[in-house]
Formats: sequence, structure tokens, C-alpha cells
Amino acid sequence: MNPATKTSGVHPSAAYLRVVSDRRAGGTPGIQLSGVSKTYRSRDGDVPSLRPLDFHINAGEFFVVVGPSGCGKSTLLKMISGLLPPSSGEIFVEGEAVTKPHGNVGIVFQNSLLLPWRNVLGNVMLPIDMKRLPRHEYLPRAMALLKLVGLEGFEKKLPWQLSGGMQQRASICRALVHDPKIMLMDEPFGALDAMTRERMNVELMRIQRETGKTVLRSGVPRRSRAGHDRTARRDRGDL
Ligand SMILES: Nc1ncnc2c1ncn2[C@@H]1O[C@H](COP(=O)(O)OP(=O)(O)O)[C@@H](O)[C@H]1O
Ligand SMILES: [Mg+2]
Repeated sequence: MNPATKTSGVHPSAAYLRVVSDRRAGGTPGIQLSGVSKTYRSRDGDVPSLRPLDFHINAGEFFVVVGPSGCGKSTLLKMISGLLPPSSGEIFVEGEAVTKPHGNVGIVFQNSLLLPWRNVLGNVMLPIDMKRLPRHEYLPRAMALLKLVGLEGFEKKLPWQLSGGMQQRASICRALVHDPKIMLMDEPFGALDAMTRERMNVELMRIQRETGKTVLRSGVPRRSRAGHDRTARRDRGDL
């Protein structure tokens, strides 16, 4: 429940990234970072985006990183997924060094990013189709996940026929369908209204408990610095 690690962000004045851990899980390593930093090189010069960061998350843990816009949350999640190389340091997912995009993560973004021409089931099955995995093996899993998030009966609907919260739940199923080891969620509920966001947080905690996945999600604090603890706990669904 207590903040496990406090980390720094980019610009000392504004950026402030912190990690809140739920230490109930066992000791199997999930995600480990040592000395991970990122500096983007651009034509206008270097953009330091993440100061060296160390933390580890056990398998099955639920982690939240909280910080204002621009403090490096997306950068951090992209590096863990292998989409972006760190400028320094090392990242391990379940003991394996991350050096390139890997299939061990499911990613959920701020907007559900469902394909408008695919129905709900088709969207959930997208990773299976892209990885050319056998559809018949994964269809029951996709159906079970949709049931888990309360979308049973909506399989044939197109994204526009669903509410924002339902679309985001479908995108959580899509992130889990190929049974990744960890789930990375980049401000997953930022686009939703406050009440739906609260409900989705509770829902996410339940899904995490039922699937036993390691979850790392990011969020923006909605209070002043002094309110961070409360915000972080509420983000995890405790409040
Ligand atoms: N592709 C990029 N090139 C240059 N700078 C970038 C790039 N992506 C992000 N940044 C910079 O890195 C910092 C962190 O960005 P980001 O990880 O998107 O933060 P957050 O997700 O917390 O809002 C910001 O200062 C941003 O402007
Ligand atoms: Mg971001």
C-alpha cells in the first residue's frame, strides 16, 4: 500500500514521476529496471525525458506510476515494451533482458484505439491475427475475457455502438488475449468521465486479481503534490 519507490522525472520544477507498489504479491521478478534513462535526440538538441530510474515489480503485482504530463510515463512504458531503446540502463521482463519489441506485454492506451471496421470480437482477436496464431485456439479465451469484463453479448457490435468505458474494456481484452506476461496501461482511463473512470479502476483491480497478471499502469495526479498518496490509492481502486 505504501509508496515503494519515489523517482524523479524530467524538469525538476514540474515533472514528478512516482511509483506506487502493492507489495502483497510473491517474490518472482516481473519487471526490473536498473539505471534506465531516456534522452531523445532531436534536431533542436537533446530532450532529457527520464532521469535514471530503478525499481522492480514482482510477478502478479499491480503498479501505478503517477506524474504530470511530460514527466516520461509513456516513454517508460514504451521502453518496457521494447518499442523504444533506453539511453542507459537495463530492463528485464520476467528475468529476460528487453532489447526489442517482445510478445510478453499487452498494451492499453489512453484511447481504446479499436479498429472501427472490426466488431468487438474481431478487435479482441487482432493480436492473434497479427501474430498468425491459430484462431480456434484463442477464440474461447477471447470470449471468456469478454465475459470477464461484462461484454458478453456485445461480440458482434461495432466500436461506435459501445460507450467509451465499454470500448476501453474491449481494449483490455485485446491486450490480454495472447496471454502476455505483463500488462502495460498508459493512462488507460484518461479519456473517460470521472465516474466511469472510478468504475473502470475497480474493474481493472478485479481483472488483475482474476488473471494474476503483472500490471503497470500510469496516471496523472488530479490533486496537488500533497494529495498524491490519496490519488495513487484511488487510482488503484482502493478509495
Ligand atoms: N519522440 C520524442 N522526441 C523528442 N522528445 C520527446 C519524444 N517523445 C516524448 N518526448 C519528450 O519527453 C518527455 C516525456 O514525454 P512522455 O513520455 O510522453 O511523457 P508523459 O507520457 O508523462 O506525458 C516530454 O518532455 C516530451 O516532450
Ligand atoms: Mg503519455
